Amino acid sequence: MGAQYLARLAGMSTPISLRSRLGSLKAFGGELPVFNTDAAPDEPMSLLIEWVTAAIDADVVQPHAMALATSTMRGEPSNRTLLLKDVDLEAVWFASLSSGPKGDDIAQNPRAALLLYWREQGRQIRIVGAVEPGPREVSEADFLARSPRSRAGAIAGPQSEPLTDFEAAVDVARARFEREPDYVPNDWTAYRVVPDSVEFWQAERARDQVRLRYRRDGDRWTKELLWP
Ligand SMILES: Cc1cc2nc3c(=O)[nH]c(=O)nc-3n(C[C@H](O)[C@H](O)[C@H](O)COP(=O)(O)O)c2cc1C
Repeated sequence: MGAQYLARLAGMSTPISLRSRLGSLKAFGGELPVFNTDAAPDEPMSLLIEWVTAAIDADVVQPHAMALATSTMRGEPSNRTLLLKDVDLEAVWFASLSSGPKGDDIAQNPRAALLLYWREQGRQIRIVGAVEPGPREVSEADFLARSPRSRAGAIAGPQSEPLTDFEAAVDVARARFEREPDYVPNDWTAYRVVPDSVEFWQAERARDQVRLRYRRDGDRWTKELLWP
């Protein structure tokens, strides 16, 4: 705990521990969607598209922010937030540089877990599957759709390495785009995660929850409700 925080607590007539403040927080407020699992489809991808669409329609803040977990061949895990780029009936898409730590992980161990969490709707989706680069033209279109600043940022220096002379490197990157507006770095990659497990989680009122998990079984899916 930080020294300043402890000093502030000492000045309080009744110090409240962080543990008790955390314990008293409300889980969910407001109206939550109803998840009718009886009406759920036989495969998860159309339901995934339906939930993402509903999150956008409900003005959830950053409905496209998702966590991507990867690990090295030796099982060293890491996790980070990325933007969801698309969902189709086969795969979930994100885009990044293949040359950074997550790209190294994927090259060593082409498996990933994704997590979407929409607090306003009390919804979570957990996805596990195989991850692979999509067709080159999808990566190129994704990169060219980025803002000039974020394109320059992506090529200015090696992602996740210690920062050196950022402004100068961004100027060099900008100059490159002035000469070559359609330049796309080879390592910009639209990745697709092909799920073999997708779990839909819906909070109901304060504490209850409904969980429906789909698992791939050859070219079919099985689905089952899970204990909370
Ligand atoms: C809301 C949000 C969205 C992000 N979107 C992306 C993205 O789409 N692609 C990306 O490469 N990094 C994105 N990042 C940055 C990553 O979290 C991460 O810092 C970066 O990709 C380096 O990850 P790595 O060192 O594990 O390879 C985003 C971060 C946040 C907080």
